[in-house]
Amino acid sequence: MEKFILALDEGTTSARAMIFDKDSNVLGSGQYEFPQYFPKPGWVEHNPEEIWNAQVVAIKTALEKAKIGPEKIASIGITNQRETTIVWDKNGKPLYNAIVWQCRRTSEMVEKIKHEYGDIIKEKTGLVPDAYFSASKLKWLLDNVPGLREKAEKGEIKFGTVDSFLIYKLTGEHVTDYSNASRTMLFNIKKLEWDDELLELFDIPQSLLPEVKESSEIYGYTKKEILGREIPVSGDAGDQQAALFGQACFEEGMVKATYGTGNFILANTGKMILYSDNLLTTIAWGLNGEVNYALEGSIFITGAAIQWLRDGLKIIRDATETEELAIRVLSNEGVYFVPAFVGLGAPYWDQYARGLIIGITRGTTREHIARATLEAIAYLTRDVIEEMEKLIQVKELRVDGGATKNDFLMQFQADIINKNVIRPVVQETTSLGAAYLAGLAVEYWESLEEIRNLWKIERTFEPVMDEEKRKRLYAGWKEAVKRALAWAKV
Ligand code: G3P
Repeated sequence: MEKFILALDEGTTSARAMIFDKDSNVLGSGQYEFPQYFPKPGWVEHNPEEIWNAQVVAIKTALEKAKIGPEKIASIGITNQRETTIVWDKNGKPLYNAIVWQCRRTSEMVEKIKHEYGDIIKEKTGLVPDAYFSASKLKWLLDNVPGLREKAEKGEIKFGTVDSFLIYKLTGEHVTDYSNASRTMLFNIKKLEWDDELLELFDIPQSLLPEVKESSEIYGYTKKEILGREIPVSGDAGDQQAALFGQACFEEGMVKATYGTGNFILANTGKMILYSDNLLTTIAWGLNGEVNYALEGSIFITGAAIQWLRDGLKIIRDATETEELAIRVLSNEGVYFVPAFVGLGAPYWDQYARGLIIGITRGTTREHIARATLEAIAYLTRDVIEEMEKLIQVKELRVDGGATKNDFLMQFQADIINKNVIRPVVQETTSLGAAYLAGLAVEYWESLEEIRNLWKIERTFEPVMDEEKRKRLYAGWKEAVKRALAWAKV
């Protein structure tokens, strides 16, 4: 009987499920959005039960669309929005809303410890201390949700990122993988264990923590009541690491950028733990007894800026309209947009930066604003690649995610980084990466070699812009960013 792999991609705004065959074709998929909660300015929460329900419906839809039953699923892989923090009890009941990676409620807490512990945190976890990661979010939950700390001391509750929560719901096992653990700011990426000193710093009892496993191994089997049978769950990686895997970036120096709500650019650094002042060092995956590291530039707002043109400014009806608008003008005519809505992530790490549009004249139209938005995505990506190039050589950029359909953006990206930008045939690389990890564990796919051969180029964008223009445009961007920095402190 021909079998397939089911990948669950639990993202920031929706839960998706995709079914792949051996040639990495998509047989069917389902996707459900869930509500976002903003209890206070800068706070972002999800209801974990709503995530779970959306995920279950997505699975059922994917199976229906693929016209197959669960007996045809060889194994399940999970990939997820990272850092988002959940606590639940032994029955899998969440004890508070999930605190989402974007949530800034613990900025001050992190600011206070930054000076004294910044270097230690960086050395142990590879991360730049920031409210982005799970540690301060978990501390906030234990300190602020009545009764939670007492329950934690008694060993009655469990903490995990969304992968861990979903695996618990599916199988009853309390586990996570190296890639997700490396985003908590509690995991020592050299020793590959939860770090006692950091647990003490954030006052977190050991008993809450999931067991950390490889990204490709059988964690458990689905409970019968969910899909009517026991299916192995055998792949787990954070969504950006899964995309690196799905892009077949298996060798050192290979780089991918995923264009989503934000942009996440990851470079495979193999067995090397490289430290950069302004990028994150993270675990890409654990596989076959070894851990593979990566350098990461996390840009918080890119696609979300396009959404803002649609929902906030209301100058477009649909994200795809930006391409048409952008090519109607010959240049940005001096207009730059720095979408620092929630501060700036890599490589600036300024929690107090705020968005700005600059260079506006009476002749400025929505065409210029749309163009400046797309260009900003490319400039922010270049900022990260420049930082990477201080440590490794970046030959080309493999791209995926929604905005990569935008040919104007892809060409501008190639022009502004002066490198080839490569768009693969299968652009569902996040889900695909999770499927590959799950499939490798159950020998659905035999080797990385087999997977590498499945990756195919759809289009290569080559740089055509002359050097003088590239320099001039980028210099303008850097000036605009300077003006956005620290704005919230003014
Ligand atoms: O680190 C956050 C990242 O994993 C979120 O990804 O695609 O859900 O916005 P996405």
